[in-house]
Amino acid sequence: MTNNPVKSYTYLLNLAKNLTENEDDFIANCANLSSLIFNNIEDLNWAGFYLWKNDKLILGPFQGLTATTKIELGKGVCGSSAKDKITYVVPDVHKFPGHIACDLASNSEIVIPLIKDQKLIGVLDIDSPKLNRFSEDDKINLEKLVFILLENSCL
Ligand code: SME
Repeated sequence: MTNNPVKSYTYLLNLAKNLTENEDDFIANCANLSSLIFNNIEDLNWAGFYLWKNDKLILGPFQGLTATTKIELGKGVCGSSAKDKITYVVPDVHKFPGHIACDLASNSEIVIPLIKDQKLIGVLDIDSPKLNRFSEDDKINLEKLVFILLENSCL
């Protein structure tokens, strides 16, 4: 037994490669990867993308309950990650100033920015009902998954 509750990131990253390497449509790849994450990583209640459009983050492909459709730069966890262009791991969303609550079941969250050629493309947002759900290992591997998405998609 390891600390890592994901089935296997090696398996997940291979599936991500297989799903995206013969498909360059960015939205199709975001849709499949949100499903892949949601259905293979334990203890999640939401997984999906917000995409940078007209100076805002706009809801993209996701799995989970309906969510807010627009997030301003710097607002909430997603807007903070987009503004600072770094991954945010939030062990307790109730302690994050300005957290935007979409699904009341969410207790912890990880947001990975999508950056290509120094340009903001959007963010990958994943929520869990468990407190302190996301580890350094989750962060490293989810950043790898975002890299695969950006490498294989036409932007
Ligand atoms: N909690 C996010 C908003 C998006 S929902 O979690 C799907 C935030 O604070 O940015």
